[in-house]
Amino acid sequence: IPDSISFEHAAAFPVQVLTAWHMLHTSHQTGPGQTVLVHSAAGGVGIVAVQIAKAAGARVIGTVSSASKAALIKEYGADDAINYVAGDFAAEANRLTGGRGVDLILDAVGATTMDKGLTCLAPFGHLILYGRAGGPPEPLNLFRLFEKSIKVSGFVLYTVTAVPDAMRRGIEESFKLIAQGKVKLLVGKSFPLAQAADAHKFMESRQSTGKLVLIP
Ligand SMILES: NC(=O)c1ccc[n+]([C@@H]2O[C@H](COP(=O)([O-])OP(=O)(O)OC[C@H]3O[C@@H](n4cnc5c(N)ncnc54)[C@H](OP(=O)(O)O)[C@@H]3O)[C@@H](O)[C@H]2O)c1
Repeated sequence: IPDSISFEHAAAFPVQVLTAWHMLHTSHQTGPGQTVLVHSAAGGVGIVAVQIAKAAGARVIGTVSSASKAALIKEYGADDAINYVAGDFAAEANRLTGGRGVDLILDAVGATTMDKGLTCLAPFGHLILYGRAGGPPEPLNLFRLFEKSIKVSGFVLYTVTAVPDAMRRGIEESFKLIAQGKVKLLVGKSFPLAQAADAHKFMESRQSTGKLVLIP
């Protein structure tokens, strides 16, 4: 752990920062000129993904469920925030991109977002499914990929642990972004380990932002 990083922030680092970094730079090659749509953008992985995508030069649109989260993700660099409770996120993403759609979607919600996400992907766009907070999505009809030559892939961080060079690169590049001030870790709330159940309830309440840390 670099001296500049506290134990609490270090606990917030591996799963969330590396998941965001590898989706944006190993599964996908994010760069200038691209637009990235990040679901759950105020959450643990989301708020880091917003910053890493911005650091790569992309335009970033985040989806959130409240006005306070919309303000938070803009503070962390998102160009646009979509409150999906107030309207249809895919229609709004299409509107924000002048009808072109987005190049990459990071989706850990699943059931309520994946199918709709395909309707706001740009030609050759890419959707990465890495969780299912909203339940597993319906099976994908592969012929839908033909419509715009798009692709859907999955991501799980454990895969990277089996590729040591990739793991090392992700850690080095992520620490570099933190040292450069381009990525700020957000610990939204800490709980004593004995109150782990409360941490779960808080996350389920949709009120949490950034990483929740349990202190032993
Ligand atoms: N594949 C991997 O390697 C990997 C690694 C890390 C995490 N994950 C997955 O990524 C997701 C995000 O993890 P995280 O730790 O960063 O959590 P998180 O995003 O902080 O999770 C909480 C947020 O998810 C959003 N959400 C959307 N639909 C939800 C639903 N049906 N129920 C509860 N929350 C919902 C809510 O934000 P809004 O209300 O603003 O939408 C909520 O505040 C999780 O599903 C996790 O399992 C996968």
